[in-house]
Amino acid sequence: MKINKEYKEFTKNIIEDEHFQALKEDNHHGTNRFEHCKRVSYLSYLLTKMLKGKEEEAAVAGLLHDFFYGETNSKVAISYLNHPKMSAKNAKKYFNINDNETKIIETHMYHYALVKSIFPFINKDEKIKSKNYRPTSKEGFIVCLSDLLVSIFEVGRYKIKYDTCLYILFLMNIIK
Ligand SMILES: [Fe+2]
Ligand SMILES: [Fe+2]
Repeated sequence: MKINKEYKEFTKNIIEDEHFQALKEDNHHGTNRFEHCKRVSYLSYLLTKMLKGKEEEAAVAGLLHDFFYGETNSKVAISYLNHPKMSAKNAKKYFNINDNETKIIETHMYHYALVKSIFPFINKDEKIKSKNYRPTSKEGFIVCLSDLLVSIFEVGRYKIKYDTCLYILFLMNIIK
């Protein structure tokens, strides 16, 4: 199928790379980080195509948005808000990503930053300003939204509650 063929062309060299394959060793949302990144990438690619954005950048940045090793809940280096920078650094080291792709990776946790600004008691030692995590492109908002949707799916919260729906609608409204 044409869409799948195009998607594979955009992502093949990353998916087959040994450094990216190593993400299979890391647990993430009850699956492994390799599968999580592939899901976010493919959903980002499809949504960006629908919204007439730069689908290759969305596919690549979606794939590399969590390109780090170790656990996200470690308080030392890999906090919820440090791992985007680490992922962007790794992505630049091993793959030839452009400035927008770098920025998409660095801002993909905007959903978490927004939640933290509403509920500052969540991880209260981690001080942030949500505007510093705001995506700067359409593709950035799409990858952020895709990460949120895929994560909800992966942690098994199939029964999406009313407030979650409102939150998703809010993010989709920003993308427009
Ligand atoms: Fe992440
Ligand atoms: Fe993620």
